[in-house]
Amino acid sequence: MRKFYLTTPLYYPNARPHVGNSYTTVVCDAIARYKRLCGYDVAYLTGTDEHGEKLERAAGQAGVAPQAFVASKREVFYELWKALNISYTHFIFTDLPDHVRSVQRMLIRARDAGYIEKRRYQGRYCVSCELYVSESTEPADCPICGRPAEIMEEENYFFRLRKFQEKLLTHYAEHPKFVQPDFRFNEVKNFVQSGLRDISVSRKRIKWGIPWPGDTEQVFYVWYDALTGYLTGIGFAEGDNGNPEFQKYWPADLHMVGKDIIRFHAVYWPAFLMAASLPLPETIFAHGWLTVGADKMSKSKGNVVYCEPIVEVLGADALRYHLLRDIPFGQDSSFSYEGLIQRFNSDLANDLGNLANRTVTMVNRYFAGEVPVAEKPTPAELEIAELAGKTLQDFRVRFDFYDFSRALDGAWQFIGRVNKYLVETEPWALAEAGLEANKTRLANILYTAAEAVRFSAVMLYPVIPESAERLWRQLGQKAKLEDQRLDDLRWGGLKTGTRVSKPEIIFPRLEKEATLKKLWELEDAERAPATTRKESAKHVEPQLQSGGQPQAEPQRISIEDFAKVDMRVGEVKAAELVPGAQKLLKLSVDIGSEVRQVVAGIAEYYQAEQLIGMKVVLVVNLQRRKLRGIESNGMIVAATVGEEGRPVLVTFKEDVPNGARLK
Ligand code: MSP
Repeated sequence: MRKFYLTTPLYYPNARPHVGNSYTTVVCDAIARYKRLCGYDVAYLTGTDEHGEKLERAAGQAGVAPQAFVASKREVFYELWKALNISYTHFIFTDLPDHVRSVQRMLIRARDAGYIEKRRYQGRYCVSCELYVSESTEPADCPICGRPAEIMEEENYFFRLRKFQEKLLTHYAEHPKFVQPDFRFNEVKNFVQSGLRDISVSRKRIKWGIPWPGDTEQVFYVWYDALTGYLTGIGFAEGDNGNPEFQKYWPADLHMVGKDIIRFHAVYWPAFLMAASLPLPETIFAHGWLTVGADKMSKSKGNVVYCEPIVEVLGADALRYHLLRDIPFGQDSSFSYEGLIQRFNSDLANDLGNLANRTVTMVNRYFAGEVPVAEKPTPAELEIAELAGKTLQDFRVRFDFYDFSRALDGAWQFIGRVNKYLVETEPWALAEAGLEANKTRLANILYTAAEAVRFSAVMLYPVIPESAERLWRQLGQKAKLEDQRLDDLRWGGLKTGTRVSKPEIIFPRLEKEATLKKLWELEDAERAPATTRKESAKHVEPQLQSGGQPQAEPQRISIEDFAKVDMRVGEVKAAELVPGAQKLLKLSVDIGSEVRQVVAGIAEYYQAEQLIGMKVVLVVNLQRRKLRGIESNGMIVAATVGEEGRPVLVTFKEDVPNGARLK
């Protein structure tokens, strides 16, 4: 049996996954299910990347030991992947004892081959992307996220990346599909051609990492550690020889990543593997970003959309279908609830849902629930039979090229053709004109329609697994859908006499405004303080040492860090409720130099009129964000009080001028 090993990136568990980073996991799930239908033995690995400075700081801020912090956050991923029907076979988290062995094994091999040496690092580091940005202390911004990088000076172990420049370029030349899409491959080649610097692969000033073999003062650089997770997950800790799982699955067939982390995967990772004499993955595919408007969807931009409300209101398949259907794979694409609802109504409710529903209804009504015999097909029926085969063929070619949008477009043209055929043949009118007299015609029509639904259910299973399963069961199919093989999928496979079940509406048409309102309400609840959300149940208590003191003191920041937050006194000049939102007020706040528009989630606790003239504190240098389509340019400071997280606005007893700075 041919194997297929694919991976998602290992996610940082410091923040909850949102639609943006769930995208990779959804896409990989569709590929994994598709490959299984093609007869592959699939290993699908995902997981969490739990070490490094970013996580150490986040745990410190939460007042929790890093290990307990990551363990609690990891749970959110398991839950979400379950809700989205992700059929991963391996989940690796980097705080696993096996992973420690596997990373150390990699390193020892690279060190024995002469690719590691100790040197001093002096330069700029981006903690958010865990990237060494430059080798000079001159101010520099991170090339990935654009944030100012921090100064770092340490004695570290270096990986001699420079030695791999030629080897990488040769590999790229010999493997034209190593990085996809092609325009990303060109970026990678240009980066390598312009010259590589050796990179530090250990850290001294942090403790939260995998211990460096033979040096208790150092831990591994988090990217060296995390990338090796792709090996650990399939048993590399046990070694690469004589380990059946590792031998079966490595090298990976596909590492799916977002475009921002292509350098780590297409340059560093192959070099680390070469240094350890391990074969390289087949393909690294870098997809684009989900944006909100023009901005990347990300927690730091404050514009994230979470999957949970969507799953609750529309179901996981609606989200999966929209992501695969509407985003040209590889490109950036803007996400909106409106787009999601529109796609749901047009494709799932109208086209596929209607086809299935009326077909099953008519088989029940006119043939006592049994799939009828089809005889002497008309030219239209022959054409549909042929189109089915052609559609499947194209679908497979496009899926193999990761062109999901066009694959689905083709499938929907087929569904559209069958719907048109029903409109043309009007089986309901034939039945009314005389059920017995028209029985043969009706049998042909309903067999064609039912077979089209069965055919579509198998083909669409990778994308909408739960709904495809329901369609399959409605058609009375007893075999497991996941065990079907696309190689065996042929027109005419539906057996005459099969008993269909009662019709069941799988995709009820959505009323746009009511659905938006429900989504917004749930979204507001998701954004509410952690103590009021369901996440509160998972809130980790600070771990107590025997003396009763929290183990990890919240990390302290320097006065310079504090000075980065620009807080000003402002006076509320106008306030009104945001239409359709129960919790949001739109405020105009005079901060001396200008009047700012701010959206604040305080409407449940403050009346608009009560705020006019009130002096408040505004964070004025926060990134702008949009709430319900309204721009918020700043944030009002409030204390969070009580179990339900009631906001109490900060104000002053003395008169203070607008614009005065808080220090
Ligand atoms: N921990 C590293 C990966 C290590 S892999 C050995 C990391 N984690 S991450 O959580 O920051 O990002 C994980 C993935 O989510 C990346 O591929 C990133 O591109 C993707 N996305 C994050 N936001 C995204 C969008 N808004 N849109 C699409 N993908 C996005 O990097």
